[in-house]
Amino acid sequence: MRTIANELKAQGLQVINFAAGELDVDTDELVKEGARKAIDGGHNIYTPTLGLPELRKQVAALVTRHAGVAYAHNEVGLTAGAKQALYNAAMVLIDPEDEVIIPAPYWVTFPTQVELAQGRPVFVDTRPHGYQLLASDVQRAITPRTRALILNTPNNPTGAVYGREELAKIAALAIEHDFWVIFDECYASLVRAGHRHKHILAIEPRLKERAVLVNSFSKSHALTGWRLGYVAAPAEVIKAMENLQGHTTSNPSSVAQYAVSHALAHDDGSFIAAINRALDERLRQALAIVADMPEVKVAPPQGAFYLFLDISAHLGRRLGDLVVADVDQFCELALREAQIALVSGAAFGDPSSVRVSYAIAPGDVVEGLHRLRRLLQRLR
Ligand SMILES: Cc1ncc(COP(=O)(O)O)c(C=O)c1O
Repeated sequence: MRTIANELKAQGLQVINFAAGELDVDTDELVKEGARKAIDGGHNIYTPTLGLPELRKQVAALVTRHAGVAYAHNEVGLTAGAKQALYNAAMVLIDPEDEVIIPAPYWVTFPTQVELAQGRPVFVDTRPHGYQLLASDVQRAITPRTRALILNTPNNPTGAVYGREELAKIAALAIEHDFWVIFDECYASLVRAGHRHKHILAIEPRLKERAVLVNSFSKSHALTGWRLGYVAAPAEVIKAMENLQGHTTSNPSSVAQYAVSHALAHDDGSFIAAINRALDERLRQALAIVADMPEVKVAPPQGAFYLFLDISAHLGRRLGDLVVADVDQFCELALREAQIALVSGAAFGDPSSVRVSYAIAPGDVVEGLHRLRRLLQRLR
């Protein structure tokens, strides 16, 4: 898709990229200030593997505030993005043939990491319930080999924010059947107006000894490229992760750590609040256009910055001689015919949908969705 997009751009066509998994804004000025200080202060050497002691304390305080359960500095660790935190979790917790329950649609990396640890992903379909995960469906997926459940709320790709009641029941299942809950809350700071991220530990504090909390500054501070995330878990799990990380990547970027430490010390919440306001407005405009798309279903997202559009009614239709057999083909057609880059739902385990990021320039959101609407109207 990227090759086609580049070809089209070389022909002078304006390609609208709905595929990015990141915010389109510059990082917080506080982060830049902290980075400049770190560079000028000569902080060019290794830090401890799981991060600067001061930052670990700050992160422990942050997690304590969000989870409503006390975390100490030896129960948290800094990683090169949430991705490394998840990878560490997979490697230290999953043995060959262990089963890991993953709600589908899912973020692409989850099943692959489970497979890298030689575990087996077991998918639970959330589509029948507007992408909400039901505890009863989790219960049906549990076997004696169940080792973990990966929860991602707010969700990529669907934008669902899981509700309190189901989270409470899911936490009870994890305690009863003794499996880990890997709680990926990378988008916790990005919730749409009228919604709130619900923390599973705030709902069920007893889950702490079975919980691995994964978060990241990638989205909350718009610094995906700087690579800084974190994990919170029981101290012995963090220790195992330290051993693994010490022999794989060592510490995450020292400059990024100093930068975020400075930002956390001075953060007043205004950076992310402005982003959320802008995203609320973009989503409002986007949903108005989607409402006019023929036979497209959407569950209005409650968090993150994606629209997950069910276009299954259009699969099997034609544009001229071309039959749009599946969603991958639809994405290629959308790029060639309408110069819009979408992400195929097949990558997320849902071959009926496409993912659209609305965290791009407001004009592009509107123009790109109109192009999509016109393309769908041409299919017969
Ligand atoms: C659900 C989810 N988890 C984890 C990540 C990884 O984030 P990071 O950039 O912090 O590694 C992403 C990135 O898009 C994501 O969508």
